[in-house]
Formats: sequence, structure tokens, C-alpha cells
Amino acid sequence: MQWTEWLSLFIRWFHVIAGVAWIGASFYFVWLDNNLRTPPDWKKDKGIKGDLWAVHGGGFYEIGKYQYGPEVIPPTLHWFKWEAYTTWLSGFALLTLMYYFGASAYLIDPNVMPLEPATAVIMGLGFIFGGLALYELACHSPLAKSPWLFALFFMALLTLGSWLATSWFSGRGAYMHIGALIGTIMAGNVFFNIIPSQKKMVAAVENKQDIDPAWGAGAKLRSVHNNYLTLPLLFIMISNHYPMTYQHPQNWLVLILISVVSAWIRHFFNLRHQGIFRPSVLVTGMLGMLLIAGWISWPKSKALTDVTRVEQPETPLSESQKAVLNLVETHCTRCHSATPTDDIFVVAPMGLHLDKWAQIEQFAPRIYARTVQSKDMPLLNKTGMTEEERQVIADWYQSR
Ligand code: HEC
Repeated sequence: MQWTEWLSLFIRWFHVIAGVAWIGASFYFVWLDNNLRTPPDWKKDKGIKGDLWAVHGGGFYEIGKYQYGPEVIPPTLHWFKWEAYTTWLSGFALLTLMYYFGASAYLIDPNVMPLEPATAVIMGLGFIFGGLALYELACHSPLAKSPWLFALFFMALLTLGSWLATSWFSGRGAYMHIGALIGTIMAGNVFFNIIPSQKKMVAAVENKQDIDPAWGAGAKLRSVHNNYLTLPLLFIMISNHYPMTYQHPQNWLVLILISVVSAWIRHFFNLRHQGIFRPSVLVTGMLGMLLIAGWISWPKSKALTDVTRVEQPETPLSESQKAVLNLVETHCTRCHSATPTDDIFVVAPMGLHLDKWAQIEQFAPRIYARTVQSKDMPLLNKTGMTEEERQVIADWYQSR
């Protein structure tokens, strides 16, 4: 148990670092492209179409972008691709470790759909790669010619995807799969389009052939898509910490709304880099976020939240199970419940509900890890759980 936690820590850490490098480089180049200015004539004569000056880290930088390409390829040419590839590979490893090996705890929610772990994993993979195929088909269709039409198509695809995923998987599992789909589309854009067209460009320069503007245009389209997808993607990756989003009864709609509004906010910055200052975009975007937050937090009617606590299980519990159930009721359900009573945690942390015996069974390995091994649950030992009580959980878990 403990070593998988370490593995998960290292992969997640690496994933975040690779992701920072990828998104960071991508933000930087979008910014660069949007800030290029007409260069002086002597640079134009060399084929440079835009230049830019910057000061950073104690030095001045002068950057120029060629209309087509340099006369000869310089000895060191930097490519930016491993940032994307390693982000995807580590993300996929993390998804496999958490949601596929841990399918019964994280991916499957019997209240949504009682799936067998193997079936759930196949559905998850089908979701990600099926979605990628649909996106690629659309990119090769006339839809790709109109940015607005494509945006509409993509919104429809995302809506369908969210709705499907949330009707198959647990809230967290569904969100993570939509995130994985978006991340796969973005890394796929780099792997299948952007890098191949760059290779063609480099080969053309080396062979003194003309560069076909279509290569650059195709790659540019994919970069623009990636640019608008970054903010929704990053939201999904941190959404794990905010159960009020993925545990909401209309969690699919919450995801779509936040994604659309965040892409809209990205639009403001893209325009601004190009010298177009349109505050209405930012203001409507922020207003949209406030409206979403207001809608999610609006007090639900009593009937919705008034769930009876700790239902009696179908088969009678053994003595040790009863003892564990009692402990969970005393020490955990004030936070981990559909109806928490804690003063701070009004929504169950990590979406973990421990109201029913079936849920305790489902999360048994996690409960054991946090109460017996790391002993950091109950949080800050707020309820004063004793060593003897932890031992009761240990005995029950080990004898399962
Ligand atoms: C005061 C509120 C509070 C109480 C009481 C509490 N927890 Fe937690 N629990 C949290 C918070 C906050 C998190 C998320 C942060 C973290 O993982 O450290 C969490 C996370 C967890 C997780 C990780 C879930 C996941 O999906 O990784 C487990 C397992 C857990 N708690 C089990 C328990 C158990 C078992 C008890 C009772 C013995 C308990 N908690 C009592 C607040 C609480």
C-alpha cells in the first residue's frame, strides 16, 4: 500500500513539473507570436517578419521570427516536444495507477452505474481514444475552416462527453476522464500535427525547397486549439480538491460552464496580446464565474439534502464491522458524508462519503491508509481518535 503512495507521489510530482514546462512554453510562444512587431528594413531583408525585445533575468533578448525559414538550419535548433510528451505519458501513468488499478475506489460509483472494474477501464479508455478520433475527424472536415463553427462543434462534443462520463463514472472519475481526453487531444496535436509539419519545414530548408504555407497554417490551427483548451484542462486537474463541482447533481453542466467561461477569459488575454483591449470579455467572463459559483452554492431544497444517515445494510454486520461502523460515525461522517455537520467542511472532502457500510467497504484500503498507516485522518484528529480505536480498524481491515 505504502509504496503505491510513493509511486503516485513521484509520478504526480513529475506530471506537474512537465505540465508547467509544457504550458509555460506554450503560453510564452503564444505571447511571443502576438507581440511581434514589424522589424527594421535590414532585418526584413533577411526574411524576418517580426521582432521583439525583452529583458529578463539580468539580460536583454532579441528575438526574430522568419516569414518562411532561415537560409540554413543552425547547428542547434531547439524543439519543444518532450514537455508535451512527458506530460501526457506521466498523466496517463497516473490515471492508470489511480483510476484503473484503483477503479473500485475512484472510478466506479455504484450509485451512478454498478460496473465491473475491467468494464470500467475499457469504457474509460474507449472514452479517451474515441473522443480523440472524433476530434481528428472534425479537424479534417470543412468544420475546421471556421473557428466559430469549430468552437461550437467542440462545445457540443465536450457536452456529450461530460454527460456520458458522468453517467458512467464517479464524479471524480468522470472529470478526470474529460481532462484526460482534452490532454490527449492537446498532446496529439503536438505529436500528430505540429511536430510533423515542423519536420517538413526543417527538411525543406535543408533541401533548399520552398516552404508550403499550408504546413504552418495547419500547425497554427492546432496550437490555437491547444491555447483555448489550457484553462479548462487546468481547472479539471485541480477540480479534485473541490467536490462541490464534481459531486454536484448536474456535475456535467458545471464542468461545461466553467470550461466555456474559462476559454472565454483566455480569449481576453489572446486579444490583449494582439493589442486589442476588450474589457467586456473579461467582465462577462468573471460575471459568468460568479453566476456559476452562485448557482452551485444556492441552498438546495430540504428534500434534496435530507438524506437519512447511515442506512442499515442488507446483510447483518459482524461484530467487528459494527465496531468500525460506529467508529466511522463518531469520527468521520461529520466531514465525510452527503450531509456533513462539520463547521468548516460543508461539502464532503474529496467527495468521500462514508454514510453506508457499502461505502466503507468500497474505500477500505484508503480508510486503512489514512487512519492506521499515515494516521492523518480524522483531520488534525479533530474528533480525538485513540490508538485503540485505530487498532480496531486495523484488525478489521487485515482480517477482511
Ligand atoms: C474535520 C474533517 C474531517 C474528518 C473528521 C475526517 N476527514 Fe478525512 N478528509 C478531510 C479532508 C479535508 C480531506 C482532504 C485532504 C486530504 O486528503 O488530506 C480528507 C481526505 C480523506 C481521505 C482521502 C480520500 C481520497 O480520495 O484520497 C480519506 C481516505 C479520509 N479522509 C478518511 C477519513 C476517515 C476514515 C475519517 C474518520 C476516521 C476521516 N477521514 C475524518 C477531512 C476530514
